[in-house]
Amino acid sequence: ENEKLSVEHRLTQVCELLQESISYYDWVGFYFKNGNKEELKLHSFAGEPTDHTIIPFGKGICGQVAVSNNNFVVPDVKAQNNYIACSINVKAEIVVPLFVNGENLGQIDIDSHTEDPFSREDEDFLEWMNEKVAEVLEVGS
Ligand code: SME
Repeated sequence: ENEKLSVEHRLTQVCELLQESISYYDWVGFYFKNGNKEELKLHSFAGEPTDHTIIPFGKGICGQVAVSNNNFVVPDVKAQNNYIACSINVKAEIVVPLFVNGENLGQIDIDSHTEDPFSREDEDFLEWMNEKVAEVLEVGS
């Protein structure tokens, strides 16, 4: 239980650091597969609290990434029909899956109040970050 808390605490710090350092990262969170259920559960985040702490696989941008295993960059959330709105201020979103031992076990989700802010650099950076997080989770599990 202490180990779990410390991973959660460290991931919250990662979220806070990203949200504070990168001007167009307005909400940063990690979702993980909820046990054996076909759903994601919010694990740690920085930014406004969200009602969407549980997201079924396939629903919204996050749920789609849970089944596609691919990055999902959304330059304009209004153009998406399978989208779950957390705040009316959000204009764009990026979700990058997190693989632990090759398995898609979660994701980092970032909302932006800026229009079309994400580039290939964000994807590369977040993929690298998720690899580092996976190393922590492998040791912690
Ligand atoms: N917008 C996400 C839901 C999570 S909130 O952004 C924190 C989605 O469509 O899956």
